[in-house]
Amino acid sequence: QFVHVLNGPNLNLLGTREPEIYGTTTLADVEAACRAAAAGHKLDLVFRQTNHEGELVEQIHAARGSFGVVLNAGAYTHTSVALRDAIAASGVPTVEVHLSNVFAREAFRHHSYLSPVVRGVICGFGLNGYVLGIAALAAARPTLP
Ligand code: DQA
Repeated sequence: QFVHVLNGPNLNLLGTREPEIYGTTTLADVEAACRAAAAGHKLDLVFRQTNHEGELVEQIHAARGSFGVVLNAGAYTHTSVALRDAIAASGVPTVEVHLSNVFAREAFRHHSYLSPVVRGVICGFGLNGYVLGIAALAAARPTLP
């Protein structure tokens, strides 16, 4: 069973991008933490990043039928009806994750088009948010008979 961790625009620059906000954690660090978390929950991992909105839509489609999605859609969180529709259409349990506490930042980051169609939202805990997201999906796993 695969958990898909999908990352949107500018997250490829983590480590050097606005370190006062995002710290020095790189996307490779995020991937390593996700790989360890997934393995700990006996899940396989797909880990992706794209700067293109339509590509993120395709990646959500590709996750249909999977165990779950952990999604940091970056700025598309605050702009994209297409991503919201893709999540709703996918039927896959999705956790919205943000490294930073978006509510402690500019007002335009306080609204998410995605939050109404995801299982839950985690923000402000850096790369641990991804680990918590995977754990939340695993905890929601139906108990075996
Ligand atoms: C982000 C928060 C967004 O507002 C921003 O556009 C990002 C990163 C985060 O992980 O904190 O690109 O999703």
